[in-house]
Amino acid sequence: MVSALYPGSFDPVTRGHLDLVERALPLFDHLTVAVARNGSKTPTFSVDERVELLREVLPKDSRLSVTSFGGLVVDFCRAQKIGAVLRGIRTVSDFEYEYQMALTNRHLAPGIETVFVMPSVQFSYVSSSLIREIVRNGGDVSSFLPPPVEQRLRERLRPGR
Ligand code: COA
Repeated sequence: MVSALYPGSFDPVTRGHLDLVERALPLFDHLTVAVARNGSKTPTFSVDERVELLREVLPKDSRLSVTSFGGLVVDFCRAQKIGAVLRGIRTVSDFEYEYQMALTNRHLAPGIETVFVMPSVQFSYVSSSLIREIVRNGGDVSSFLPPPVEQRLRERLRPGR
């Protein structure tokens, strides 16, 4: 059984993340989407909220599960007997960071491979922080976010409007 972990901050989950999951799902028997508990960023949504949003908008599929994790990606993979890490490469600028992380993870855990998948071009330039900035300033993010996520983000960043 080939299983993979898709780790990230998902603050919040975007259509770009969903696109990546849909592309990767046929490659694996099981895909675990996991919110990092100790990322270096100051989050807009709590870990539990991000997990809840992911569960709400990801396809209902028995090959897919959503959770959170603390510590190193590779330690979580080992504990869960997951053999691959899924990451998206959107642009050339993603590559350097992803390359560094993949090789460091390989050094830490030689048996765990990183698999890169490219999202659709219409999602290749968005990021959660850009989307948050647009929402904060009243812009339209409907092409980037599933409706429940857009609503929750507006409530969080523009309460009462
Ligand atoms: N569509 C849209 N946006 C995407 C995307 C896609 N397909 N793929 C990534 N992004 C965006 C995210 O929204 C995020 O945007 P933001 O920076 O504006 O918030 C950005 O790309 C990168 O986020 P993400 O893929 O979630 O990575 P990350 O750098 O936040 O977190 C972890 C990566 C989870 C691996 C890392 O932070 C972590 O905590 N790891 C645990 C410790 C560890 O093992 N470290 C590695 C040691 S080598």
